[in-house]
Amino acid sequence: MRRKLGVNIDHVATVRQARRGIAPDPVAAAGIAEMNGADGITVHLREDRRHIQDRDVEILQQVVQTRINLEMAATEEMVEIATRLLPFSSTLVPEKREEVTTEGGLDVLSQREPLHETVFRLQEAGIFVSLFIDPDLGQVRAAKQAGADAVEIHTGSYCNAFRAGRFGREFEKIRVAAAHGRNIGLRVFAGHGLDLRNIVPILSLPEIEEFNIGHSIIARAVFVGLGQAVREMADLVHSA
Ligand code: PXP
Repeated sequence: MRRKLGVNIDHVATVRQARRGIAPDPVAAAGIAEMNGADGITVHLREDRRHIQDRDVEILQQVVQTRINLEMAATEEMVEIATRLLPFSSTLVPEKREEVTTEGGLDVLSQREPLHETVFRLQEAGIFVSLFIDPDLGQVRAAKQAGADAVEIHTGSYCNAFRAGRFGREFEKIRVAAAHGRNIGLRVFAGHGLDLRNIVPILSLPEIEEFNIGHSIIARAVFVGLGQAVREMADLVHSA
């Protein structure tokens, strides 16, 4: 199975919003990412609109030739936007105003019922729904009970452990969660903090079909250009 790379372009918008101007445009970034091997484009429309704007999602929906994955909080406002714009998929994430980035997975266990309702509304509109969760068996089971099509496993703790040089325990959690997810009929994706080095062990896990990667690609793009940064990651993911 050829694994897929979703390129998260939020941080192109972060640079634009630093001046509240028009450059760099995440729409242009999406085109370059697609030309260089991205299998999909991921954007997170946050409640505070700190990077991606409504206008970006609306234009991306018209011009993206692969598919759009809309990361969003499970709120009424976001469900209304998703069911109007109809991205290929939605990934439900927790959102806290004060956080720098998405700091943990969704606590599906404690909100199965309301999440089930949100998942159902999105699916009814024809949207594929993924839940962003920590690598925890209880959360994987709860995601299945909430009716999700897929789980995206939060790799943040693993990536931090990788930097510190001792990632065995965090890797094992991801391995077990991914295997269980697949066993109970969920599609399994992964993301957060992945880069060209720390993704290598994760690529050995056959259950993980897709990777959503943003910050490391955009950071590298500052030095080598976006096309090359996407191509390097796409080649790695596709050849695994
Ligand atoms: N997947 C999800 C659900 C996320 O919230 C994020 C961060 O926006 C990512 C993947 C990408 O993380 P990173 O930017 O660290 O590659």
